Amino acid sequence: MAKLPLTELQDRKKRGPKITMLTAYDYPTARIVDASGIDLILVGDSLAMVCLGHPDTVSVTMEEMLHHTAAAARGAERALVVGDMPFLSYQVSEEEAVRNAGRFVKEARADCVKLEGGLSQADKVEAIVRAGIPVMGHIGLTPQTATQLGGFKVQGRDPSAAKKLKEDAKALEAAGAFAVVLECVPSNLAGQITKAIRIPTIGIGAGPYCDGQVLVLHDLVGLFDRFTPKFVKKYADLSQQIRNAAQAYKAEVESGAFPAKEHAFGG
Ligand code: KIV
Repeated sequence: MAKLPLTELQDRKKRGPKITMLTAYDYPTARIVDASGIDLILVGDSLAMVCLGHPDTVSVTMEEMLHHTAAAARGAERALVVGDMPFLSYQVSEEEAVRNAGRFVKEARADCVKLEGGLSQADKVEAIVRAGIPVMGHIGLTPQTATQLGGFKVQGRDPSAAKKLKEDAKALEAAGAFAVVLECVPSNLAGQITKAIRIPTIGIGAGPYCDGQVLVLHDLVGLFDRFTPKFVKKYADLSQQIRNAAQAYKAEVESGAFPAKEHAFGG
């Protein structure tokens, strides 16, 4: 199956349907997400928390991100794969930003990259785009710099913060980003930003007026139970299902019911 053309995302902003993005961090999950028709697979730095057990996203490395992005990319036939640039892989200089974005495309076969920050990172976005790599922006709550933002909380509530977020979105558009993630932003502000820029907005905790939505897959399917943000809708409870399966297996091994004849080799 052919890859979704990146240019279709701009058309979808005008004509719909809404753009869908989910995270996936490995080959089998990316295959399932791809087969479900999701448009974009984000190999998010949320990998750090939901797969690697870190308390936040800050410590995940380029090598870890590349390893998981490559695995997910092998499983994605139609969905565009977005490699999430980890903390300090792009902030230091344009040169480092281009080199690391290039590694996502060249070594891990991502289709594009995402990085956090608006106006402050617009020069890096512009440099990466100039190198021929599509970039998705990410503003609002930016988990890599959450400490500076005063923690994990809704952004843009007061007028000056709202104005700043609009400027950030415009700066990303001007720098050549093809889309922008809005995280934890009041719905009406997200709607205003969506109207004010020509590139699609993809919301997470940003209400219904964005051009698309993204969620962390482990939240959506109930595989991450350390905490669940208010904006998550749980569509399945896989933790419970895996626990049930493991307990049933344990009971059958202990009782001798497994393996049965059909699971064993004769002779
Ligand atoms: O890393 C991630 O999963 C993300 C999403 C929350 C947008 O950046």
